[in-house]
Amino acid sequence: MNNDLAFQRCIAPSCGATFGTSEILNACPTCGSLLDVDYDWNRAPVPPTLRGFETKWSTRRNPLHFSGVWRFKELLNFAPDNCVATIGEGQTLLRSEPGVADYVGTSNVHLQYEGLNPTGSFKDNGMSAGFTHARMVGARKMACASTGNTSSSMAAYAAAAPAVNGQKCEAVVFVGSGRIAMGKLSQGLDYGAKTLQVMGRFDDAMQRVKEASKARGIYLLNSVNPFRLEGQKTIMLRVLEALDWQIPDWIVVPGGNLGNTSAFGKAFFELKKLGLIDRIPRIAVINAAGANTLNRLYNDVGVRWNGGNYDAAKINAFYAAMDAAHHEANTVASAIEINRPVNLIKALRALEWTNGVVTDANDQEIMDAKAVIGRGGIGCEPASAASVAGLKKLVANGTIGKDETVVCIITGHQLKAAQATVGYHSLFGEELAKEFGDFNVTKNPFANPPVQVANDLDAILKALA
Ligand code: F0G
Repeated sequence: MNNDLAFQRCIAPSCGATFGTSEILNACPTCGSLLDVDYDWNRAPVPPTLRGFETKWSTRRNPLHFSGVWRFKELLNFAPDNCVATIGEGQTLLRSEPGVADYVGTSNVHLQYEGLNPTGSFKDNGMSAGFTHARMVGARKMACASTGNTSSSMAAYAAAAPAVNGQKCEAVVFVGSGRIAMGKLSQGLDYGAKTLQVMGRFDDAMQRVKEASKARGIYLLNSVNPFRLEGQKTIMLRVLEALDWQIPDWIVVPGGNLGNTSAFGKAFFELKKLGLIDRIPRIAVINAAGANTLNRLYNDVGVRWNGGNYDAAKINAFYAAMDAAHHEANTVASAIEINRPVNLIKALRALEWTNGVVTDANDQEIMDAKAVIGRGGIGCEPASAASVAGLKKLVANGTIGKDETVVCIITGHQLKAAQATVGYHSLFGEELAKEFGDFNVTKNPFANPPVQVANDLDAILKALA
């Protein structure tokens, strides 16, 4: 047993091996399972109530108190203050959205808008924590595979990191070829990351980055890195904070690599254990229908965490059949176009801890929901709108009650994928079908097309009538 306040622990109950925080690990060296960051809570200086964290607001000139991640440091207490990497992440917003509530047929919907992060997605929460660990262990070169948001975030933290002995951090980004939204690609390039466009899709890039980082001793910042998920826990803390520490009934989150799902489940599990909340909200994970591994494994195959005794053979058989059929993930929600979610097993655990549910939404449902979210003044990328599209289905089939309080996580900013938005609003018929190519988006009932008008006042006034 490790005697540090924070340590790494294998999530498999049959193994449970522990390792110090100074070790760089992406999986348990003993059994290969994913790792958690865990704490000796008896010695951790946690405030007696969640409201206690509000004291940090009065000292927000301290960058650790300004950060929406690090002002909850007592709940992710693995790093000395001088190692903390912050670029002002977590200044996000929870907003009640009556328009979305009407659309999904329920009364009380809030959107947690993580698009307000410095690089425009929730990833900054986790990257801040992952990068902090990279600093703790002295890593100077970091890599990730990404559908675009993780890479943008990693590139920004690397660019902002202070040079050591005149040497800047180096970020290496692996992206699938041609599948990344332009806004995201542009960010990594702008922040100076070396960008490798791997001929393949995200799952291929993920495999290659693992191999390459091992071969070259590069620090891996994908969400298999357990420290990243510690930062993502704070999204839930800010949701509770914005609700004046009341517990919602449901958290609805898009599912890709399932890092958020895993982190949210862990956050609530720990808060309950610490007596800081008295009940755990249920989590609903929404896959894109074209990338719905979790939905199929959970609802069709019936795989469960089962206290750690999950049926690995069923999961392996599922993947083998997927490979045999050359099945490729395919969705307009490119951020979650993932066949092999790296945090699958942790997500199963989170679903058990939170009595969660899983469903999926197709590309048409996602794009329509995105337009409805936009009408309320919150711009998001397609993947984020999976939450609202899935919520609509879960209300319609009675899983989520009409009077329950629901928080949908809006994971990324609209400007990340502007082309999808402009296409949806301005194209019709064959042009629309062509723009969305292999995605099944053929209608745009919430379109708000631009109006072409001559450069002439009369014509403009006529158009305004
Ligand atoms: N929403 C957005 C906007 C994302 O970028 C991602 C993941 C997700 C949802 C899914 O979150 O992986 O925690 O289940 N994007 C990763 C990336 C894969 O590379 O940027 P998850």
